[in-house]
Amino acid sequence: MEADLVGWRRHLHRHPELSFQETATVRFVVDTLRAEGIEVREGVGKLGPDAPGTGAIALVRGEKGGSDACIALRADLDALPITEVGKEAYCSKHPGVMHACGHDAHTAMVLGAGIALHRVRKEWSGTVMLVFQPGEEKEPGGASLLVKEGVFNDPKPSGILGQHVTPELPTGKLGFRSGPFMAAADELYITVKGRGGHAGSPHLCIDPVPIAAQLILSLQQVVSRRNKPGQPMVLSLGKVIANGATNIIPDEVRIEGTMRTFDEAWRSELHGLLPDLARGICEGMGATVDFTIVKGSPVVKNDPELNERIRAAAVGYVGEANVVDMDIRMGAEDFAYYTHVMPGCFFRLGTGNPALPGTQSGLHRAEMDIDEDALVLGAGMMAWAGICELAR
Ligand code: NI
Repeated sequence: MEADLVGWRRHLHRHPELSFQETATVRFVVDTLRAEGIEVREGVGKLGPDAPGTGAIALVRGEKGGSDACIALRADLDALPITEVGKEAYCSKHPGVMHACGHDAHTAMVLGAGIALHRVRKEWSGTVMLVFQPGEEKEPGGASLLVKEGVFNDPKPSGILGQHVTPELPTGKLGFRSGPFMAAADELYITVKGRGGHAGSPHLCIDPVPIAAQLILSLQQVVSRRNKPGQPMVLSLGKVIANGATNIIPDEVRIEGTMRTFDEAWRSELHGLLPDLARGICEGMGATVDFTIVKGSPVVKNDPELNERIRAAAVGYVGEANVVDMDIRMGAEDFAYYTHVMPGCFFRLGTGNPALPGTQSGLHRAEMDIDEDALVLGAGMMAWAGICELAR
């Protein structure tokens, strides 16, 4: 199915859609599945009561009989607001939108796994649920919506598998991690409010710029001094806007960032600690502060037993030498929501190749690409892992 996999991936890559707007993407997936005679449910993953729901769930049923086991294979459909560079053969046709996180590959591979299993359905028993979810890249996360909508109630999968392309892992390798794997991520929105005026008369103003600077450094001290050593935590403030001028002190400074943690108790403590700290610093210097934390997805926690079995399936599929144990990652994944309601195994597919520009560039970048040789392995691994779980 190599030509199909590459063709699907390139079609999706050319036509990326942003989170919760994946209407053409899900149409393509649904039509491709139905053309094979696979049963599909559309309209899942609704952002609100009137939203279309740009996700789909397909059921591939083994016809050997004798088992009502079910395992879910998950793909994500959405792209990112990035303007793509390079890749003449299949560059994005939608300005400012790009599959820069490999979700085009994830979708093609789960599509391929499902169709391959359907074609050999007489040889296995049980049900494989294909999950095509919208909005991985945006809160509240398509995964959380599917869980709330109860799409996993009937049939009820015994577990869910997710796979993510990984530039730093060479093509041919699969990466696993038992237990907590990826961080909980919360968004920070901070506005330091002072009083602007002439830059030559700071004594008549409450300059929010040095107050914001102090706040930024103090927030980093929470990571180095309040966080327990050895406990993973990242706080990154990627946006700082003080919109004054050489001779103008602005009224306010806006700061946005993210907080990544692994411990749920520490995470909720931070939801109180950070705003308290900000108030102390800003009010002590005559300013005020708005501090909003938007709660994102929780930790991706791989079920140790499921992870062990899927890792063993991977060893059987690609050999011990091609299976790698990975460190925790401070990236976040809305696959996390699944792992809090059923056993989950999220693993990494190597797509880096030094001979191919872009495949080692890192995710969420304009030049990001994958080594398409990984598609057959990724689709095959999903199908094989699903079969191994059902045959257990
Ligand atoms: Ni992703």
